[in-house]
Amino acid sequence: KGVKNLVETMPKLNKLPSEFILPLERNPLSVNFAQIPIIDISGLNGASQTRDSTIGAIASACRDWGIFTITNHGIEDALIEEMIKVVKEFFDLNLREKMKYASDDVMSPVRYGTSLNTSKKHNLHWRDFFRHYGHPFQDTFHLWPLNPPNYSNVAREYLERVWEMAMKIFEAISEGLGLEKGYIEGCLGEGVQILAANYYPPCPEPHKTLGLAAHSDHGALTFLTQNGVDGLQIKQEQTWFAVHHVPGSFLVNIGDSLEILSNGRYKSVEHRATVNAQRARISIAVGHGPQLSSFIGPAGPLVTDKGSAQYEPMKYKDYIRLQQSSTDRGKTALLALK
Ligand code: SIN
Ligand code: FE2
Repeated sequence: KGVKNLVETMPKLNKLPSEFILPLERNPLSVNFAQIPIIDISGLNGASQTRDSTIGAIASACRDWGIFTITNHGIEDALIEEMIKVVKEFFDLNLREKMKYASDDVMSPVRYGTSLNTSKKHNLHWRDFFRHYGHPFQDTFHLWPLNPPNYSNVAREYLERVWEMAMKIFEAISEGLGLEKGYIEGCLGEGVQILAANYYPPCPEPHKTLGLAAHSDHGALTFLTQNGVDGLQIKQEQTWFAVHHVPGSFLVNIGDSLEILSNGRYKSVEHRATVNAQRARISIAVGHGPQLSSFIGPAGPLVTDKGSAQYEPMKYKDYIRLQQSSTDRGKTALLALK
């Protein structure tokens, strides 16, 4: 039924119910902040020197961090705020309305759920989520919720704009890898966009659980925004760091498909979400990957010698199922392709 419903029906809840206690080595809330790169991407539209230095900054961020902040991306604050608002309105709907989208199928085109996106039994996570596809819109737009009434229109506008922005970043990453500008976009084929909206209510004993356990994203790039409440963490060399979201910016992170495509030059970033006792957190992650029926494998020009391919190709759809069939994620799914 979801954690939002749980805290609303038990307003005096002051202990974490035991099914939410996760095995954690240390308090996930006492970590330092990472200073991830902040990149002004308006430079991509500038004169060639400015463009080249922006491409260089993105390439370094991909290589050294697997995550970076982008500013001056051209998506107005008002649209981002409206998107967060309609997502909040969705989560504020009564449970019966939201349960119309509940499903056991992790690939269901529109899905409301709680905890991890898996049908396997697992310790519960302090999260409710709502997921659906974006681009290519003709496939599933008709299945998006009619309630809240402006949800579909706002989400459509938002996802179209994020898609355009993602393609610009893919161009920059292609060039940074020494590939043709349209190389990665070409590998994605028609491509697919997956929106995952997360709702993390205030949690009694937030140090004993997580909103979302450690994982890497299966797609190529994910663009994340949030409602002004931090909670994202990244793992760098076995240490967890908190990540601050700069208001109005997007956090961009590398997923497994781009690690594979770059033949390991860039690594997907392992991340998780923590929760807190005071404020509900909303995050909206939009993943961009290859079309579901296509194969992901290392880019030909990056496989320099025969036998230097680091990953076996796999159909993207099968890779998603593989990743989501496990409840102990980290980056384990990628190992299957090594
Ligand atoms: C995600 O990994 O999809 C969401 C992370 C977050 O809520 O910050
Ligand atoms: Fe993620």
